Amino acid sequence: MQKITKAVIPAAGLGTRFLPATKALPKEMLPIVDTPNIQYIVEEAVKAGIKDILIIISGSKEAIEDYFDVNAELEMRLKASKKDKQADEIRAITDMANIVYIRQKEPKGLGHAVLSAKPFIGNEPFAVLLGDDLITSDEKPAIGELIAAYYKTNGGTILGCKRVSKDVLHKYGVVKPVKDGTKGLFEINDFVEKPKDPSLAPSDVACLGRYVLPGCIFDYLEKTKAGVGGEIQLTDAIKASMETNPCYAKIFTGTRYDIGDKFGYVKAIIDFALKREDLGKEVKDYIKQLAKTL
Ligand code: UTP
Repeated sequence: MQKITKAVIPAAGLGTRFLPATKALPKEMLPIVDTPNIQYIVEEAVKAGIKDILIIISGSKEAIEDYFDVNAELEMRLKASKKDKQADEIRAITDMANIVYIRQKEPKGLGHAVLSAKPFIGNEPFAVLLGDDLITSDEKPAIGELIAAYYKTNGGTILGCKRVSKDVLHKYGVVKPVKDGTKGLFEINDFVEKPKDPSLAPSDVACLGRYVLPGCIFDYLEKTKAGVGGEIQLTDAIKASMETNPCYAKIFTGTRYDIGDKFGYVKAIIDFALKREDLGKEVKDYIKQLAKTL
């Protein structure tokens, strides 16, 4: 079985739900307090043992490249003003992983973005992490759990999933288990993309932005025609690939925030701020005070 050594982070979407900010700023650079969310995504891959990372960007996403690049002048200035700790933190961002970039020329959908990773990946299995889905975990990183599932299933396609409530099923791809029961890790043979009504959903388990895909996915992506919204959908190619590669849902343990959505983003900032040593107490006192006035 081939090892997973590479990850792809598609970050070329338009981010229309976050306009006007995303007119000039990639949504992956929106800070969770003081750290752009894409840093957390890269850290998740690194914690899972992946150092070779491809970020798929579009024309207006230079800020992402700049963020992971060395900024010698800033480091020098921080050191000159005796801010060595900050200088080291800035350098650590650059040293964390080997990051390369490919441009998706047009925003033709997530499937199209992943297809542009073909020259970097070749024919190997690989991990995919979407920047919209921020997952925190005190235990194993979510993508690490999916990679473990890949080895356990002898090279299966793995979809990172969570059980969600009925009222939000319409936002996600919902998996159809082969057998009854949806615990931990289980084989699936279909999924329904954004079911209009909960009764059309084959389970309450939704795919949430983490994948381990086989190298053959590129053959299927090349054959995939534009689907919902005129975009090339990754889910259509995954469905087609089930004919040759068994597919499994892995329910990951961490907490997931949908930060492509404004409310999800606000929740992430509050939770992250509450957990920080330098801010937690102040933020908690403020929320308590605020709650009295609501
Ligand atoms: P979304 O469906 O959230 O699309 O993409 P979006 O355009 O980024 O955001 P909204 O809905 O307009 O607000 C899911 C993931 O796929 C990437 C996005 O960057 C995001 O990580 N993506 C999407 C691409 O890389 N290219 C695309 O053409 C579309």
